[in-house]
Formats: sequence, structure tokens, C-alpha cells
Amino acid sequence: MNGPQLTEIDHVAIAVHDLDGAVAWYEQMFGARVTHRERVESDGVEEALLQVADSYIQLLTPTRPDSPVAKYLERKGEGLHHVGYRVADAEATLQAYRDHGGVSIDDHARPGSRGTTVAFLHPKGAWGTLIELVQE
Ligand code: CO
Repeated sequence: MNGPQLTEIDHVAIAVHDLDGAVAWYEQMFGARVTHRERVESDGVEEALLQVADSYIQLLTPTRPDSPVAKYLERKGEGLHHVGYRVADAEATLQAYRDHGGVSIDDHARPGSRGTTVAFLHPKGAWGTLIELVQE
């Protein structure tokens, strides 16, 4: 693999119980603006994206009790959930990661929100951080 694979920080994701409350807080405290909102049924989440320069704060809340974000909130409470890094080719970066012994949650890159292609890497072996590769 040649050169840096992570080209930009796409988003920092924060898990919350009250999505509207969290959005209102960012608006009131920082004048932030929601540029995208989406329910991703396959992941059991609803997200709101607030733009910060070329990146986003992604506020996440579960849409059903068995969603991974619901379990995360139960275990750890509200707070930082994952970091999304932009990559040119999510599948290629994912497979290179696996070739280097990295543990991933997704076996292959798949559709994410906003029409992106994404792959999640397991926090185990990644310094306790859930990492999302994001290809725009
Ligand atoms: Co994300």
C-alpha cells in the first residue's frame, strides 16, 4: 500500500438519546446547522450531520432497541461513538487493513448514508476506537 489512505476526517460521531435535543444544543451553543438528516434502517439509526468546515459532527440515535447504537448507549452512555475517515476506495483500504491482520466488522464495503460507501473496522486492535472508512 502506497501513501496515506486516510485523506480527511469525514465525521466524528456522537451517540445521544435525544437527537432533536442534541441538534438544538449545537444550534444554540455554536450556531451549527444541520446539513443532512437520515434514517438508516439497516443500521437502526437516525443521524443528523452538522457541518464543520469540510467535515461533520454526526449525531446518532437508535431507531430500535436492538440496534448497535442502542446497545452502546446502554453500556457506555452518551458520547463519542466512532470516527469516520475519508478514503479514496473503501473496499481496497478495508482489504489492505485485513491483509495486515486488522479486524473489521464489515467483510466488504457497503452503502452508507448520503450515498457514501463505508466499512467499519473493529475497535479491538484499533486502540479502542470504532473506525468507519467513508468513500464519497
Ligand atoms: Co459514521
